[in-house]
Amino acid sequence: MLNDTILHAERELYLTLLTLAQHHPMAYEWLKQLPTWLNDIKDKANYAHAPAYQASVARLPKLTVNNVQLDSDILTINAPLSDSERKQATALLKQLMPWRKGPFQIGSSQNEGSEQAEPIFIDTEWHSDWKWQRVAPHLGTLKGRRVLDVGGGSGYHGWRMAGAGADTVIIIDPSCLFYHQFMAIRHFVGSADDHDTGGYRTHYIPVPLEALPENSQLFDTVFSMGVLYHRQSPFEHLQQLKGQLVKGGELVLETLVIEGDANTVLVPHDRYAQMNNVYFLPSVAALIGWLEKAGFTEVRCVDVAVTSTDEQRKTEWMNYHSLADFLDVNDSTKTIEGYPAPMRATIIAKK
Ligand SMILES: C[S@@+](CC[C@H](N)C(=O)[O-])C[C@H]1O[C@@H](n2cnc3c(N)ncnc32)[C@H](O)[C@@H]1O
Repeated sequence: MLNDTILHAERELYLTLLTLAQHHPMAYEWLKQLPTWLNDIKDKANYAHAPAYQASVARLPKLTVNNVQLDSDILTINAPLSDSERKQATALLKQLMPWRKGPFQIGSSQNEGSEQAEPIFIDTEWHSDWKWQRVAPHLGTLKGRRVLDVGGGSGYHGWRMAGAGADTVIIIDPSCLFYHQFMAIRHFVGSADDHDTGGYRTHYIPVPLEALPENSQLFDTVFSMGVLYHRQSPFEHLQQLKGQLVKGGELVLETLVIEGDANTVLVPHDRYAQMNNVYFLPSVAALIGWLEKAGFTEVRCVDVAVTSTDEQRKTEWMNYHSLADFLDVNDSTKTIEGYPAPMRATIIAKK
């Protein structure tokens, strides 16, 4: 099914990279690969669900949007919603479950006596707004900056970066589902994140970091949140992040850590909190050492937080097991495998 929202987003992404390439020829390397990247994600042979996800996005109702709040904890699209639009949109958005990163709200508060339906509240597994609250106060300004969000999931934090004034945000993530969740939100956001001169500011490329041209040096700020512990080679990941930054650019790295000194690193033997793709959990001191070894400067830890079962939990929009099911029932400071329960650190560094 021809999908206006996705086609339009793709066109805006091409235009953004073309404009960028005028001053930064490296963007041509991205443009060369973009057709493959965008076709691969539509290919049923790669992603059996891709056609169904596309169809869900294509059938979302067109709403008259009054305004969009990209800088609020609940990313809110204010638009009057009839009962039938609400039912239709809810059913289609639920085809894109599980919704992990958010929250999002679509609709507007009801006026007394109005015919409007209640807003749709996408209550995601994660309170991603809490992570943003922990990270945002420590960032250099995002105003006017070109930003890369590596492993951006549904795009929630990417939208918040645009809401904080970034000139251009490119979210990357290899998940076909999360790409389409972003497109569903993009459908309702429409041109609300446009530059004054026109053109979207927030984009999504469905690829892993390793697929990007190395050493692009295109971004003033690069975020990698919740990705490092999934990588088999953390140093390769750090080098790839560094390669995407301009000289003097800012890295924001958020990952799972454990208590310990500069020599403490946990490599879970099998699963960690039921995840089977977790590799390296360093202490904060070890992580700082890794960043310095990778050539970053001014490395500092700005936040450490134990993840609570209020921050990550099962909801109507993610009805599988969640954190509470992955912790020891008798001791919530441990995972069910007996490792320390999830604790996350945010590190900021300069290239
Ligand atoms: C735990 S989630 C974190 C999402 C979000 N950044 C946050 O902090 O809430 C990890 C994300 O990284 C993505 N991911 C996994 N491997 C990746 C890679 N090699 N490059 C980019 N993203 C990756 C996953 O698809 C997933 O959406």
